[in-house]
Amino acid sequence: MAVIAQKCPGIKVTVVDMNEQRIAAWNDPNLDNLPIYEPGLKEVVAEARGRNLFFSTDVEDAIDAAEMVFISVNTPTKTYGIGKGMAADLKYVELCARQIARVAKSDKIVVEKSTLPVRTAQSIRTILNAEGKDLNFQVLSNPEFLAEGTAVQDLHKPDRVLIGGGQDEAGQRALNALADIYAGWVDRDRILTTNVWSSELSKLTANAFLAQRVSSINAISALCEKSGADVDEIARAIGMDSRIGPKFLKSSVGFGGSCFQKDILNLVYIAQSYGLTEVADYWEQVIKMNDYQKRRFAENIVQKLFNTVSGKKIAMLGWAFKKDTNDTRESAAIYVADYLLNEQAELWVYDPKVKAEQIYADLDYLNTRSEDENRRLVKVVNDPYEAMDDAHAVAVLTEWDEFKTYDWQKVFEGMKKPAFVFDGRNVSNGRMLGTIGFHYQGIGK
Ligand code: UDX
Repeated sequence: MAVIAQKCPGIKVTVVDMNEQRIAAWNDPNLDNLPIYEPGLKEVVAEARGRNLFFSTDVEDAIDAAEMVFISVNTPTKTYGIGKGMAADLKYVELCARQIARVAKSDKIVVEKSTLPVRTAQSIRTILNAEGKDLNFQVLSNPEFLAEGTAVQDLHKPDRVLIGGGQDEAGQRALNALADIYAGWVDRDRILTTNVWSSELSKLTANAFLAQRVSSINAISALCEKSGADVDEIARAIGMDSRIGPKFLKSSVGFGGSCFQKDILNLVYIAQSYGLTEVADYWEQVIKMNDYQKRRFAENIVQKLFNTVSGKKIAMLGWAFKKDTNDTRESAAIYVADYLLNEQAELWVYDPKVKAEQIYADLDYLNTRSEDENRRLVKVVNDPYEAMDDAHAVAVLTEWDEFKTYDWQKVFEGMKKPAFVFDGRNVSNGRMLGTIGFHYQGIGK
């Protein structure tokens, strides 16, 4: 929404949330206190805030004043009842729709920005019309394809903008109104319009395909480690085939983030609910492979450290699910840490952007052990050298650029011997570390 405000000064954008603390942070004069760390975001907010971008807790006023309302709330995996662990929880989306229906005194275009199961627009439409008001509500689907860490860049130069809308005249009018907003900075031929169901399902499909690529290369990484092949060499060799392409072939400790797992589980659930068992099983395997990759990485650490990490200090470099973000949702680091803690390791974590409270909250959320125990076994430090000093092993969980710049000779001298580096992101120069004296293990090497 900040980028829409930046690129379209003639449109007034009001971002509303019930959470006062969060809105206060978005309004903080010190732009370093924005609730989300994202390269380039504070510059966008600085340009538009107070001009045509506003942050407020007055949800009803904003709905009343708006011609177009974007629903951008959380759709987490359900943790209860039918579809538990798989289906998307649409509680917040429904609450938004009900609130819009209640407050509206004029026609509204309601835009699904949250990622939603196919056919959700139908439910939203029914709720909007249930108040029996003589108003016209149009529901559009406009999924967001930005990736974290490159969000602003992706929004400024999207590969495509996708808008799904009703096929009748009113639907097309609404669809064109939204397309006109994006046309303020995106070429028209990159603005795709489809029916609502295709748009909703495209988002789940895009994430499923992307995650599938990571799981596919990760499956090959396990084979590389057994056979002497090198997964990066393979990625390069297959990526030069223009039908395959070079992107998203970086083998890793496993994908994380708020989208991939949730959206695939949701896709699997939808397929199951239509009775399409083979389709469901096919996509579920992407998740299983990812779980295997995380477990395999952790198991390997234990095995290489002579089958026990009990009482051993292990440094974890990185906690975020990828570089250039402070987001930790579904980060592989959480699961690797949990596994190592079950083996009674002593973990020292360093991440340049993630705060200690977040790291403890992520571990507590798993409910594997008491909060006290998490704090006793895990230390979070602001200095990577402190994390690695006197450690038996270093595990790299996020591909932060700064990890490449460390004085590894100094790190080696400070560590217990034999000194191990388990590089879950293949960011280090394995040959150089080997020359220093480390036992180095990358993924698929
Ligand atoms: C993803 C989609 O890319 C984006 O289009 C969608 O809108 C939201 O979900 P995001 O989760 O922010 O974006 O990050 P992404 O760059 O896709 O990475 C997801 C995970 O896959 C990360 O943990 C990343 O480290 C991992 N990954 C990605 C790999 O392990 N290897 C790769 O080659 C690419």
